[in-house]
Amino acid sequence: MAKLAVNVDHVATIREARKINEPDPVTAAALAELAGAEGIVVHLREDSRHIKERDVYILRQTVKTHLNLEMAATEKMIQFALKVKPDIATLVPERRQELTTEGGLDVITQKEKIAQVVKQLQIGGIKVSLFIDPEPAQIEASNRVGADMIELHTGRYCDAKGDTQKEELKRLLCGIKYARDMDLVVKAGHGLNYVNIKPLVKVKEIYEFSIGHSIVARAVLVGFERAVREMVEILKEG
Ligand code: PXP
Repeated sequence: MAKLAVNVDHVATIREARKINEPDPVTAAALAELAGAEGIVVHLREDSRHIKERDVYILRQTVKTHLNLEMAATEKMIQFALKVKPDIATLVPERRQELTTEGGLDVITQKEKIAQVVKQLQIGGIKVSLFIDPEPAQIEASNRVGADMIELHTGRYCDAKGDTQKEELKRLLCGIKYARDMDLVVKAGHGLNYVNIKPLVKVKEIYEFSIGHSIVARAVLVGFERAVREMVEILKEG
């Protein structure tokens, strides 16, 4: 069974709607762990629009499973990560105007730079994951730059409908197999919900799913623990 890592960014989004101190993503992370999550993920964006440095510092002390910090490969973020020392740093592309991370990291065109960042973080004792599209050339480049693991972007699969979705699923499965043949640890995330995850839960090569929005959306209506537990139950079907 694949592990579930819960992204609590959007608990912070609700907090920032009022710029006060509730709801607290730290509390949500604790509830997620109590309900069976095996990892907590936060994305500290350059503009701190949801998660703040304060959240990451506290989560570093309170998370009992593993803490995965999504970040852009900028000098400021690298220095922050080296100070906080999350268990995993996931390098993601970041554009200020985007609503969410829109595409995977282009490892091919920035190979030297990414290789250097991967090394710098690893020397600091942090495992490095690269968030990439399920394309063989990106997977190969990720392997070459020394990433410990990759997270395949499931957004195109999740957004597609009908036959196009079947095509995107095929592309994703080919990417997973390609990466596993290279012995890369494969995670998957972005846009996954309680329905579209079903064809993926039986794919035993997926080590972990990273899921945020759909869990927080359900949690608003049924409570955080129940929302996480219901996702864990679906993963158990695998
Ligand atoms: N993985 C990465 C790298 C992401 O940037 C995000 C969104 O923050 C997710 C997973 C989770 O996506 P969603 O919120 O759509 O579940």
